Amino acid sequence: MRRYSRVTGTGSYVPPRRLTNADLVAELAVKGVETSDDWIVERTGIRARYFVADGIYSSDLGLVACKNALQAAGLQATDIDLIIVATSTPDMVFPSTACILQNKLGANGGAAFDVQAVCSGFVYALTVADAMIRTGAANKALVVGAEVFSRLLDFTDRTTCVLFGDGAGAVVLEASDTPGILASDLHADGKYVGILCVPGHVSNGHVLGDPLLKMDGQAVFKLAVGVLEEAARATLAKAGKAEADIDWLIPHQANIRIMQSTAKKLKLPMDKVVVTVDQHGNTSAASIPLALDSAVRAGRIQPGQNLMLEGVGGGFTWGAVFLTM
Ligand code: UT7
Repeated sequence: MRRYSRVTGTGSYVPPRRLTNADLVAELAVKGVETSDDWIVERTGIRARYFVADGIYSSDLGLVACKNALQAAGLQATDIDLIIVATSTPDMVFPSTACILQNKLGANGGAAFDVQAVCSGFVYALTVADAMIRTGAANKALVVGAEVFSRLLDFTDRTTCVLFGDGAGAVVLEASDTPGILASDLHADGKYVGILCVPGHVSNGHVLGDPLLKMDGQAVFKLAVGVLEEAARATLAKAGKAEADIDWLIPHQANIRIMQSTAKKLKLPMDKVVVTVDQHGNTSAASIPLALDSAVRAGRIQPGQNLMLEGVGGGFTWGAVFLTM
């Protein structure tokens, strides 16, 4: 009998502090940074985002998301033998956020590690967890995207600071004799390191280089639109499926215009696209599982439906996962 992996529960969490565009515009005005609700909504579709308070880390957001996912799956933390956290904002240089989260959950003993693929991190982590489950290296996994991007933002740079937010999403992925994850397709092209990066690093007790996010938005936009279509088509081909088999497209939530363009290229109406960028902003690796959980909890995504998850971001990285719920 073939062994597959299946999503059996989803969960998510955003911190309590919500900033609408109007709130952010007012905060930035104090610093002499000019922007507007109209510009942000028209260019990105973002209306609000959540920011963590001091002392709250990715593992804290991931913890609540995981508890919600475990409850949905009807499992205890002690049932979990693999935790993969996709994050670019780890709690510390090391150990991994996955190890810190494992301890907070009380799921000690299984494998735990982080995946660093920026905004594509969740599809990368899901693909790794699927492979580990299919080969028998794990049975019950928590796959988590958790980010505190607010800590990387330069609040004097209006071209980036209005775009991002904090949050976490998680899925429980379990071994099953029915699919589950049917196919995935991952890529990276390191020649584009410079178009989206946080170049600073810790060295001899100091942070060297700029530790704040830098992005060439137009370059990222152009690349994203092309690769998201390619990744979706490649994943459908591997799964032996067609565009019409996609019940829900859940793209990385960076910009509504990128999502509209991808949907159009895949001949999908926007009512088949899960959109939460308006409420969360861009939460990097957390955006896909946050969107997935919102649509599951709203009763939109139903068991048996087919989902195409798609990530794209720094690296440059991109990829897609096609699965049946
Ligand atoms: O998560 C990883 C994936 N990341 C992405 O997918 C991001 C991809 N890129 C984008 O989403 C878009 O490129 C942005 C939303 C970042 C920018 O939108 P755009 O339509 O490409 O705008 P632009 O960079 O061409 O800027 C247009 C104008 C400029 O003014 P001028 O030169 O035309 O006078 C900017 O200075 O908008 C100005 N501008 C702003 N104005 C008000 C840039 N940021 C702002 C702002 N408020 N926050």
